[in-house]
Amino acid sequence: MIKKEHITTVYEYDSAADLSSDLQKIIIESKEAALRAYAPYSNFNVGAAVLLSNGEVFSGNNQENAAYPSGLCAERVAIFYANSKYPNVPVLAIAICAFNKNGILKTPVPPCGSCRQVLLESEIRFKTPIKIILVAQQTIQIIENVSELLPLSFQKDNLFE
Ligand code: THU
Repeated sequence: MIKKEHITTVYEYDSAADLSSDLQKIIIESKEAALRAYAPYSNFNVGAAVLLSNGEVFSGNNQENAAYPSGLCAERVAIFYANSKYPNVPVLAIAICAFNKNGILKTPVPPCGSCRQVLLESEIRFKTPIKIILVAQQTIQIIENVSELLPLSFQKDNLFE
């Protein structure tokens, strides 16, 4: 028997001041995007902003629907938007921020499983790690790449073995 372990490292910051100006920019944009979310059913407003290697920033937010499963999370709106505009430009980072009726959440909100799967495809497609930046009221958490957030993932190699 072989035991294999997967480790996820989370870096925690008290403020954005220690981060690069590009990362500070997507943190602010994720907050602004959350405020434009269409989430009348959950009242859980999520914003995401992605930084591309050409310096461009794209943001998105959750878009809900009366037919609940037809809605989409903020992370996928943002990354699909970026990838559709620049299909050949790697994504370097995504910032994610959520608000409820009391304001920005105290606890960082990590991406759901489906969003992790989509983010991973982008990481693999561009062979470039994507930093995940979780933005909360007084804390910022950073995970260095998507594969740490989705170990034992299903990938295109599984299809073609
Ligand atoms: N949501 C996101 O946009 N991103 C996440 O990472 C978690 C959940 C949205 C989906 C739905 O509109 C609402 O939050 C409640 O689940």
